[in-house]
Amino acid sequence: MNDKKQLKVSAIKEGTVIDHIPAQNLFKVISILRLDKIHTQITFGTNLESKRLGSKAIIKISEIFFHDAEINKIALVAPDAKLNIIKDYEVVEKKVVEVPDEIVGIVKCFNPQCITNHEKITTRFTVVNKKEVSMKCHYCEKITDSEHMEII
Ligand code: CTP
Ligand code: ZN
Repeated sequence: MNDKKQLKVSAIKEGTVIDHIPAQNLFKVISILRLDKIHTQITFGTNLESKRLGSKAIIKISEIFFHDAEINKIALVAPDAKLNIIKDYEVVEKKVVEVPDEIVGIVKCFNPQCITNHEKITTRFTVVNKKEVSMKCHYCEKITDSEHMEII
């Protein structure tokens, strides 16, 4: 490996590498996956060059393997994220993320009148469009789309 090809963030022995995160959403991904509660080694790089995204972020989480349901939550803010499962320094599996059918918590309802914005109730939505993400609130039935989506 010459200098030009050196990894910006060191390789890991075991764990999960999440690549192709839009740089501006790195901290949302960290928050959705609650990485602040994890005690194994985590390294990340951001504002890295990406042909497709312009500027991307990458997170490497040692010794942690996420359930699909958990990892799919990040599709809301990182729809093109690529997951690499690493075992003994080798990539043993590659996965993409998929927007889930239902979103519990994570997103704030766009409707200011909604009960979830006034009482301590966990938000709950049914996804009505997975491509340009929009979701219908279980409580007020109003639609929150990606443009108005605010991560709690
Ligand atoms: N990686 C890592 N530690 C390892 C092996 C791989 O951190 N022991 C990281 C690489 O740095 C890369 C990602 O996992 O960001 C995927 O590795 P690999 O498939 O070897 O790289 P690419 O072929 O560039 O993957 P792709 O084009 O699918 O993104
Ligand atoms: Zn609502």
